[in-house]
Amino acid sequence: MFEEGQLYSPVTTADDGTVTVHLGDDHPGVNDPDYRARRNEIAAVSMSWSPGQPVPRIDYTETEHEVWRTVCEHIAPLHEKYACRAYRDAVRALDLPRDRVPQLDEVTTGLQALTGFSYVPAAGIVPLEEFYGSLEDGVFHSTQYLRHHAVPLYTPEPDLIHEVIGHGNLLADPQMAELNRLAGAAARRCETKAGLQVVADVFWFTVEFGVLHEGGELRAYGAGILSSYGEIEEFRGMQIRPIDFAAMATIDYDITHYQPVLFAAESFDHLINDVGAFFASCDDDTPGRLGVSSAASA
Ligand SMILES: [Fe+2]
Repeated sequence: MFEEGQLYSPVTTADDGTVTVHLGDDHPGVNDPDYRARRNEIAAVSMSWSPGQPVPRIDYTETEHEVWRTVCEHIAPLHEKYACRAYRDAVRALDLPRDRVPQLDEVTTGLQALTGFSYVPAAGIVPLEEFYGSLEDGVFHSTQYLRHHAVPLYTPEPDLIHEVIGHGNLLADPQMAELNRLAGAAARRCETKAGLQVVADVFWFTVEFGVLHEGGELRAYGAGILSSYGEIEEFRGMQIRPIDFAAMATIDYDITHYQPVLFAAESFDHLINDVGAFFASCDDDTPGRLGVSSAASA
């Protein structure tokens, strides 16, 4: 479970400018030369972008549109069943197409009107300071590739479906958008690796994999759960603990494997107030205050 994780495939550029995405041996597309060429092509487009330029559009293939359609068709009913109300309302407000892959600039247009967020391209992993820090400015770094078509309901790395169906919809809710901005501001206040790691850890257990109590049920708001067909039906069987920032910052988690512990807010308001207050006050002294300095800096 939670194999979707945050394991980006490394991207390199050769001296002659050739861009290569290095898929892991167990990636569903590793033995498909057409998919690998496509990943290289999209990565090159994403990398060609610089701040201030228009975000490049990808000419998605019919196969890629079909992957998007398949995921939307399977996951939408599960959102009604398992996602928190704010997410469901945000999905309706953003109203992304379900019959074709949206472009990042379309996501931006929708978000601008609702919360002021914009999407910019990333070929793969973005340095932590930059990824989190730019959230303060309402900027989200998003991949543009899609998972392999042979297994449309699984991905070992965060693809456009995770970034847009998970994060994009969440960022259409004004309070969730503000929570992301607060996390970004916290990341920028931190000058130490330990401080930044605490921001990343709390982000992981809230914005990525958070759950909350609502109407007598456990519901999900984390982008990693809500974008994953396999995981969304599993989270209620996990070990559920109350929000505990010291535990979030010290618990061992493997981003590539089953994650047995989730942290639940008492309500959506509790999430916004409690986690918001944490990010608002988080700085380089936070690891010490939580008593996790040695663990966080290890
Ligand atoms: Fe994510």
